[in-house]
Amino acid sequence: MGERRSLLRFLTLPAREPETPQDYFARLPVVETPRLILRKIRLSDAPDMYAYARDREVARYVLWEAHQSVWETRAYIRGLLYQYRNGLPGSWAIVLKETGTMIGTIGYMSFAQDNAAVEVGYSLARTYWGKGLMTEALTAVIDETFRVLKLHRIEAMHFTDNPASGRVMAKCGMTHEGRLRERVYCRGAFRDVEMWGILRRDWEIAHK
Ligand SMILES: CC(C)(COP(=O)(O)OP(=O)(O)OC[C@H]1O[C@@H](n2cnc3c(N)ncnc32)[C@H](O)[C@@H]1OP(=O)(O)O)[C@@H](O)C(=O)NCCC(=O)NCCS
Repeated sequence: MGERRSLLRFLTLPAREPETPQDYFARLPVVETPRLILRKIRLSDAPDMYAYARDREVARYVLWEAHQSVWETRAYIRGLLYQYRNGLPGSWAIVLKETGTMIGTIGYMSFAQDNAAVEVGYSLARTYWGKGLMTEALTAVIDETFRVLKLHRIEAMHFTDNPASGRVMAKCGMTHEGRLRERVYCRGAFRDVEMWGILRRDWEIAHK
């Protein structure tokens, strides 16, 4: 009898609305990999982030300038918090499980709803380069994105003179699609950029 009543209640409940991309960007769930936790960034990450964001070698191949002070890092983090609050494409903090240190970011640079596509981007503290960590993080973000968002395509770009980033994209199953000549104006010059992409069907084939 009790069972029948709860079944009736279940049948009369309104169907749950599917999550919108905006809800997802606001929620940005925790993602776990063998060595990393990807979680929303917090203001308390500022000292860890400043420790690497002040490094010119890290900033060399990204669009942001090396941070000059921890206050600049706090302002940068506030910008990311604004994106969560407003359901805009944003970034996860990359946290090393072993130490709890925040060692980088990875996330969505843009979202094109009509094309069902996102662009992803990332950066990592120099001490941790060459250990396969960004490959681990990007693989998890690609999986998470295709699983949760009904997207058709994930793309990523890197400056032509940053082949390590292209290697990460290749190791994550992305396809090199070509060079965009002088596509980005950065630090006083038009710079060539390499375009990479992975389609849902590429990802599904790799996961069969
Ligand atoms: C690019 C970056 C994300 C790579 O992260 P990472 O954790 O060191 O990457 P991984 O260890 O997973 O893989 C790096 C790969 O690049 C290769 N690599 C390193 N330097 C290279 C170079 N100069 N040329 C070609 N390949 C290179 C490594 O050998 C490795 O490939 P392998 O596993 O086949 O040996 C990191 O160096 C970084 O954050 N750089 C500064 C910011 C940045 O460039 N962000 C990306 C902007 S598009």
